[in-house]
Amino acid sequence: MRKKIIAGNWKMNTTREQAEILGSEVVNMVADEVNSDALVVIAPPFVHLSLVGKHVLPHPNVYLGAQNCSQHEKGAYTGEISVEILQSVGVEYIILGHSERREHAGETNEVLAAKVDSVIAGEITPIFCCGESLEVREAGTEIDFVSKQLTESLFHLSAEDLKKVVIAYEPIWAIGTGKTASSQQAQDMHAALRAHLAGKYGQDVANEISILYGGSVKPANAEELFGQPDVDGGLVGGASLKSRDFVDIVKSMA
Ligand code: PGA
Repeated sequence: MRKKIIAGNWKMNTTREQAEILGSEVVNMVADEVNSDALVVIAPPFVHLSLVGKHVLPHPNVYLGAQNCSQHEKGAYTGEISVEILQSVGVEYIILGHSERREHAGETNEVLAAKVDSVIAGEITPIFCCGESLEVREAGTEIDFVSKQLTESLFHLSAEDLKKVVIAYEPIWAIGTGKTASSQQAQDMHAALRAHLAGKYGQDVANEISILYGGSVKPANAEELFGQPDVDGGLVGGASLKSRDFVDIVKSMA
């Protein structure tokens, strides 16, 4: 059975005070209201990880996530954060290759392959993001494009290591735009990606990989998206900044 996961990516939002309030509210609401096997991941900005971790770490179903990490182990990389540093504050999931990092920080499939290796070596779960631009979708080549992102960043892994990866399909045209992919568009891509994984690793391995959908997930569309057979949860941006909305999304996965 693959894991069902709802991850909240706070991006570059929240002051210290806001982070503490949001983190504690989410954990308390999940504890009071959610009765399912879905895992919840909260990824605040780096500087708030320890603070938010105080609330998150005691809860058995809520995990601390980071939004990025360096591919390097340690040393002279000013401004960067290593897997080991993140591990030392309780991080168990790391989002890699978000389209905003691909665009603004120039992260390539090759760099991401190295980051995936570092995260797996640190025994942390990578949430590997992939997704196409509107231009690619309009050209009708989105499945080839996203499959190539998987091939170039993940296909060097052994089957055993691939099973440690969570994939998040996030069409760029749906991120922060209010424009969600239809549940059918999400299902079609997720099924295509699973078939792509199966082509290399076999169906049994592909069936074990959780594939999350991201891009304007909100309480109003979550249930339908998560109802698709190949959609195993969500990576949530904007709606993860409101505790009520985020927990309602988590409840849709139940
Ligand atoms: P959004 O962001 O939910 O605000 O569209 C999703 C993401 O970027 O992970």
